[in-house]
Amino acid sequence: MKYLITGGSGQVGHDIFLELDSRYGSDTEIYMPTHDMLNITNYEDVVAVIKTIKPDVIFHCAAYTNVDAAEDNKDECYKVNVLGASSITDGAAAVGAKLVHVSTDYVFDGTNEDLYTISDKVNPINFYGETKALAEDIVRQYPKSFIARTSWVFGEHGTKNFVKTILHLANSKKIIKVVDDQFGSPTYSRHLARLLVDMAETEKYGLYHTSNEGFTSWYNFARYIVHVAGLSTNVLPVPSSEYQTRASRPLNNCLDKSSITTAGFEPLPDWQAATKEYVGNYLNKSETKKRTLEDRK
Ligand SMILES: NC(=O)c1ccc[n+]([C@@H]2O[C@H](COP(=O)([O-])OP(=O)(O)OC[C@H]3O[C@@H](n4cnc5c(N)ncnc54)[C@H](OP(=O)(O)O)[C@@H]3O)[C@@H](O)[C@H]2O)c1
Repeated sequence: MKYLITGGSGQVGHDIFLELDSRYGSDTEIYMPTHDMLNITNYEDVVAVIKTIKPDVIFHCAAYTNVDAAEDNKDECYKVNVLGASSITDGAAAVGAKLVHVSTDYVFDGTNEDLYTISDKVNPINFYGETKALAEDIVRQYPKSFIARTSWVFGEHGTKNFVKTILHLANSKKIIKVVDDQFGSPTYSRHLARLLVDMAETEKYGLYHTSNEGFTSWYNFARYIVHVAGLSTNVLPVPSSEYQTRASRPLNNCLDKSSITTAGFEPLPDWQAATKEYVGNYLNKSETKKRTLEDRK
C-alpha cells in the first residue's frame, strides 16, 4: 500500500506517519512531502505529485491553522484551506485514492444548547471556520472521502498547542487565567491518528466527529493539565469577554461522536486519559532533553 500525508510536520500528520509506520512497517510506502517540497496551493504540482506517486490513501492534514492570524491573512488562509483541499481532492480523484480529510468543530457557531451532530448545519463565526466549511463542501463531492471533524488538538509535533502553553505558563507564573465559558473536547493527535488509520482500512466513507471522549471547558482542561504535571500554579476562571481574541470562538464546541461507534470503529479514550498520557510523554521527553544537554556540558 502507498500512503501520502500532507502536513507531516504538523501534529496530526506526524502522528499518522508514526501510526502507519508502527502498524504496517516495511510493508508500506509512506510519502510525506514537506511544505517546501509540495505547497498545496500549487494546483499543478499537487496533481502531478499525486499522479506520480499513485497513493492508495491520502491523509490531508496540511492547513492554515492559526485561527487569529487568519482574520488578517484571509487570502493565504483561503488558498491553503480551500484551494489546497480542492487540489488534493482532484488529485485523489485522478488516481482513485481514498481521501481522509481533517476538519474542525469551528465549522459551528457554538450557539447550540445540545451536542452538535453530523447532520447539524454549519455556520462558522470566524474566517478559519469558513474556509474549513468550504473545504468540506469540496471534499464531500468525492465519493471515496472521509471527513473527520476534530477539536482542541494537542500532539508532540507541530507548532504550539494549549497543553504546551499551559505547561509553559504554569512553570513561569503563580497564577494563570483561563476562559471557563467555552466547552469542547480536547483531542490527542496520537489517538486521532489511530482512528483515522482504522477508517482508511475501510470503505465506510462519510462525515465523522472525531475527538477524545467527554467534554470540558478550557479552564477545567488547564486545571487538569497543571494537576497531572504535579504543579501548584493557581488557575483562575475568566469569561471569554475578559479574554479578547482576534477571531471569535464558538462557546459550545461539544461534538456528538456517536458516528464513530455507529460505523463500528473504536472510540477515542476520554480526554482525561489522553491528557495524562500526553503530559507524561511530554515531561519524559523534556527530562531526557535536559539530561542530554547537561551530559554535553
Ligand atoms: N490544532 C487544532 O486544535 C485543530 C482543531 C481542529 C481541527 N484541526 C485540523 O486538523 C488538521 C491538522 O492540524 P494540526 O494541528 O496538525 O496542524 P499544524 O500542527 O498547525 O500543522 C499544519 C501543517 O500544514 C502544513 N502546511 C501549512 N500550509 C501549507 C501549504 N501551503 N502547503 C503544504 N503544507 C502546508 C504545515 O507545514 P509547515 O509547518 O512546514 O508550514 C504543517 O505541517 C488541520 O486540517 C486543522 O484544520 C486542528
